[in-house]
Amino acid sequence: MPTREPHDLIATAIRTLEDAGGPGPAPATAWAPGRCTLVGEHVDYAGGNVLCVAVDLGIAVAARASATSRYLVASGDTVVARSGAGPEGDIGDRAFAPVLALRERGFAVPVIEVGIAATLPSGAGLASSAALIVAVSTAVLRLLGATLTARDLAAAALAAERDIAGIPCGPLDQRAVIDAADGGALLLDCRTGDETTVPWPWADVLLVGCDTGTHHDVGGAEYRRRRKETESGLKALGVASCQDLRDALIDAAALDLTVKRRLRHVMGESVRAGEAAEALRRGDVAALGGLMSASHQSLRGLHEVSTPALDAVVRAAEAVAGCAGARMVGAGFGGAVAALVTRTGADPCRRAMSAACGGGRTFELRPSPGVAVLARDVVRD
Ligand code: GLA
Repeated sequence: MPTREPHDLIATAIRTLEDAGGPGPAPATAWAPGRCTLVGEHVDYAGGNVLCVAVDLGIAVAARASATSRYLVASGDTVVARSGAGPEGDIGDRAFAPVLALRERGFAVPVIEVGIAATLPSGAGLASSAALIVAVSTAVLRLLGATLTARDLAAAALAAERDIAGIPCGPLDQRAVIDAADGGALLLDCRTGDETTVPWPWADVLLVGCDTGTHHDVGGAEYRRRRKETESGLKALGVASCQDLRDALIDAAALDLTVKRRLRHVMGESVRAGEAAEALRRGDVAALGGLMSASHQSLRGLHEVSTPALDAVVRAAEAVAGCAGARMVGAGFGGAVAALVTRTGADPCRRAMSAACGGGRTFELRPSPGVAVLARDVVRD
């Protein structure tokens, strides 16, 4: 097992599996980090640019072949046993989707039993679904002694989440969780699939998060609606990517005003993501923070995916000395806020954010390497 995977959490995943499924052969284990978008939210499905990091909160899994023909997944006190791997509306949907996605790619994946242990809050906009699916995929590949390229692993994980589990996600989360470099942010161009690493330039500037405790569901109707509005607007204007949008094009179009707002968000947000990468390269904290706050305002006013609780936490963070900017992360409709803050401002910022949402959990979000770096035995070049 690679030494940089978190051994304590992996040990908990193994214990969870054995408590639920009884003793058995040594499981294969894996760990996948979560994702925090810096700037570039709700643009991956519109061919936009995203600047994001993988974070040191994540999900550990232990997986083994079932001695019976029963699928089993255990996480904390929740245990689900099933006869099939297809979606049934429980935690098994995400845990077993990789079995079907990898079988579709020709791997002889057996019926599996999985134990899960997580430090990443679920439903908080930090890509917990992608982290779980990538971790299970990695563990299953280890079980089989098989390998995949990073691109193929991301494609399998996306197919598992979107096509099998039925979550209408874009390509962002899987790419961040797998491809993030060690100590750097990832600038992902979702039009071409190209990516660039931008090193995190500061030792004294942190990302802190606060989970408002109001949880979104990325499979929910509002996320689907935003996608549909955005995609229908792009189609009506005859452009394949939000990178081809211009104000004049949107102004002149005979489109529904809501659709125009969505287009203005994806156009501006993708440009901001490129500017944010430049700010990170220059080590310009104020500029990156300003772009994060501008991203939040656009998600709130134009894409309409924020909530009063998220807005209150953002305002509370921005009022703290040393905070350069803050924004909701992920799909929205609840979840977490991330703030860019100096080390000395971090504790006051965490307190202010938590207080603004009635005691939400706070954490530091440290840029971390993705699975392609951590699991070199599974993810080949
Ligand atoms: C969710 C989806 C991603 C992306 C974000 C919003 O995390 O899974 O594909 O659309 O929301 O940026």
